[in-house]
Amino acid sequence: MSQVIEYSEKVMDHFKNPRNVGEIENASGVGTVGNAKCGDIMRIYLDIDENQVIKDCKFKTFGCGAAVATSSMATEMVIGKTVNEALLVTNKAVMEALDGLPPVKVHCSLLAEEAIHAALWDYAEKNNITIEGLKPPVKDIEESDKIDEE
Ligand code: FES
Repeated sequence: MSQVIEYSEKVMDHFKNPRNVGEIENASGVGTVGNAKCGDIMRIYLDIDENQVIKDCKFKTFGCGAAVATSSMATEMVIGKTVNEALLVTNKAVMEALDGLPPVKVHCSLLAEEAIHAALWDYAEKNNITIEGLKPPVKDIEESDKIDEE
């Protein structure tokens, strides 16, 4: 039996007009994660200045509409934040900012969060710094302990 999935207006807006799609040349950090459930992939690029402030963030994805919308919103939310503040941009915060996602699409929102974390990890490694509270990146979000939709 098929089920019609309803999205909020904000999700539809970010899906139809995604913000910050693309790449950053010589990015300060790049993170790529996959989603074993659906095979979708997300890559995030961060441009971080000497004060550890995120100046720019872009994304590229082979992902579904929910992955596009959550990444678009997540990039908007991390720009202007410090690397520490960016850790507070969780998939839950992004979903709230989008007025929610249907439960079957929650795993899609993790792609953006995990890719941002992976990009921050890359930045920290390149600069030999530690970002408090940042865990090593997962390659695949099925390894993540954050999915509890079943
Ligand atoms: Fe793959 Fe949404 S179905 S990220």
